[in-house]
Amino acid sequence: MSEPKVVPHHIAIVMDGNGRWATRRFLPRLAGHKQGVDSLRRCARACVQRGVAVLTVFAFSSENWNRPVDEVSGLMELLAMALAREVPQLKKDGVRLYFVGERAGLSPKVCDGLARAEAATAENTRLVLNVCFNYGGRWDIARAAASLAARGEPITEASLNGAMGLAHVPDPDLVIRTGGEMRISNFLLWQAAYSELFFSDRLWPDFDESALDEAIAAFSARERRFGKTSEQILTAHPVPVLG
Ligand code: IPE
Ligand code: IPE
Ligand code: MG
Repeated sequence: MSEPKVVPHHIAIVMDGNGRWATRRFLPRLAGHKQGVDSLRRCARACVQRGVAVLTVFAFSSENWNRPVDEVSGLMELLAMALAREVPQLKKDGVRLYFVGERAGLSPKVCDGLARAEAATAENTRLVLNVCFNYGGRWDIARAAASLAARGEPITEASLNGAMGLAHVPDPDLVIRTGGEMRISNFLLWQAAYSELFFSDRLWPDFDESALDEAIAAFSARERRFGKTSEQILTAHPVPVLG
């Protein structure tokens, strides 16, 4: 008999590989980013179906401003378009949206769209979808520390945790990166301290339900020890003996 599958409560994803997906098809990079929005819609739906409670995705990093101007402006327009098109359905599907990242630097139109999308889905409870946009892990930590310092509060692990962008959810259990690169690229530096990591060679637009299931199955087979020994973990959760 196979072991029951453990579904992660919180999955975080570095959605990488849109540009290569497009280039392989002789398309402009932006076509890959558009396809990436479709992939995110499919992935969020699959997470709801599998009982995942929180999905956090990396959509635009603090460093992505260094890309060609046309690609950056295309990504900003795509965000505005995706908000207008996707939010009504997300609302129906029970998805609650949060945008995590530096708002300064985004246009007033985009900021307004983000605030409206968060307000429109604020009552939803089936899936929390955190979209990290203009986000960097270092920015998050530095900003949290600065806000505590400004309030004259002591800087502790708990107070820092509470001042950061993902304070409303527990840490990710599983961090997936698509696109074949094995690096973290300034994503969730604080929150991924004990996350299981899964690297997929699939480019983000090709990351479908079966690829998600593969990542969940790999997660399910891991032993999370949080610094303890394997024996301690097995004593706390003994494997049932059949027969
Ligand atoms: C990820 O895909 C999306 C963003 C960073 C905005 P990329 O655009 O990085 O795709 P590759 O890595 O160039 O293929
Ligand atoms: C990470 O991908 C950021 C996002 C997926 C939004 P990048 O493509 O920007 O990462 P690097 O530059 O390859 O490390
Ligand atoms: Mg990339």
